[in-house]
Amino acid sequence: MNNKPWEAWSSAEVQQFQEEFLTWYQKEKRNLPWRYNQDPYRVWISEIMLQQTRVDTVIDYYYRFMDAFPTIADLAASPEEKLLKIWEGLGYYSRARNLQTAAQQILAEFNGRMPATIEKIRSLKGIGPYTAGAIGSISFKLPEPAIDGNVMRVVSRLFCIEADIAKASSRKVFDEAMRTIISHEEPGDFNQAMMDLGSSICTPTSPNCAECPIQSFCLAYKQQRQTDFPIKSKKMKPKDIYYVAGIIENQQQEFFLQQRPDSGLLASMWLFPLEEVSQARFEELKSSYTEDLNLFSNELVAEDSPLIFQEYPIVWQKKIIGEVTHVFSHLKWHILVFYGRTNETLKSSGSWVKKEDFSNFVFPKPQQKMLAVWENNQTSDNHW
Ligand code: ADE
Repeated sequence: MNNKPWEAWSSAEVQQFQEEFLTWYQKEKRNLPWRYNQDPYRVWISEIMLQQTRVDTVIDYYYRFMDAFPTIADLAASPEEKLLKIWEGLGYYSRARNLQTAAQQILAEFNGRMPATIEKIRSLKGIGPYTAGAIGSISFKLPEPAIDGNVMRVVSRLFCIEADIAKASSRKVFDEAMRTIISHEEPGDFNQAMMDLGSSICTPTSPNCAECPIQSFCLAYKQQRQTDFPIKSKKMKPKDIYYVAGIIENQQQEFFLQQRPDSGLLASMWLFPLEEVSQARFEELKSSYTEDLNLFSNELVAEDSPLIFQEYPIVWQKKIIGEVTHVFSHLKWHILVFYGRTNETLKSSGSWVKKEDFSNFVFPKPQQKMLAVWENNQTSDNHW
């Protein structure tokens, strides 16, 4: 069997495929804010946001980002805090930091304008083959593929490609197939047609082949093996990590916040204090701090209570108000959220902040979830 079926397509076939596919795209394309024009800055920002985040979520962030940073120079000059504030909740914050570094590179090396060759676009921080292909094809009409998970699914079905899409080494197979079929006249539309087809019709579990504009070209459809593709080996399960968090309030109704180190996961962001515990300790705390036991006087703070509470000896009431989980790409955080009060006013390793000032701090998703737990638990005994 031919394991590169695209090599068997005649040029007339390739042309017919492109025509039918692009006609479908012109009719069906989604009206998205980054498609109003082909400005490379707009395309770049949208593609970076869309890498790990759904279109529906991205739209609002995209508008706010473009309002805050209308030009590459605005992005380059922004204080990091402002940038992270705009990105707050979108996750994978290194994307935002890389955007700014790349904007500064564009000012220093390319006169403030996005360069127009793939090699130069690739030289920018945070831009890999996918993003370079998207910017190159959409903004500069370069016949470059932009291969993401959606595109791999479509192409793997179109040609019954057996390569494992979880392996980086498979990329070259998809790259080769895409280079054979991509339109040289409208490469940006062609790539975006692939993305739209992947998200609306050629979906992971039940593709709507009856509506598919390229059904007659699709090998998997011909063999009724649509859902055999793509081939994907199992991802490693994210590692479980267990934490106890303290939402600690003082008599001025201020809450204690700590800033993460300036590198690594959630760098420089602010959270309620967290202490890592073993899974056994986590389960033990969870079952021992039941509803009935939730009021603690000072002397009842057990010696082996979480460190957070040992550091605050005058926390005079504490209880579990909920549990939060958050999945990162490689980690799953389990957080047992305690609420407590203290008379202490000063601690060196963090800041006491009033609730109305929280908006001045950048809160990652797990912190937002803890805050939501606290807000849903506002009862007479958990505020002053
Ligand atoms: N997903 C990634 N890039 C996209 C784009 N340009 N349009 C729609 N969905 C996308």
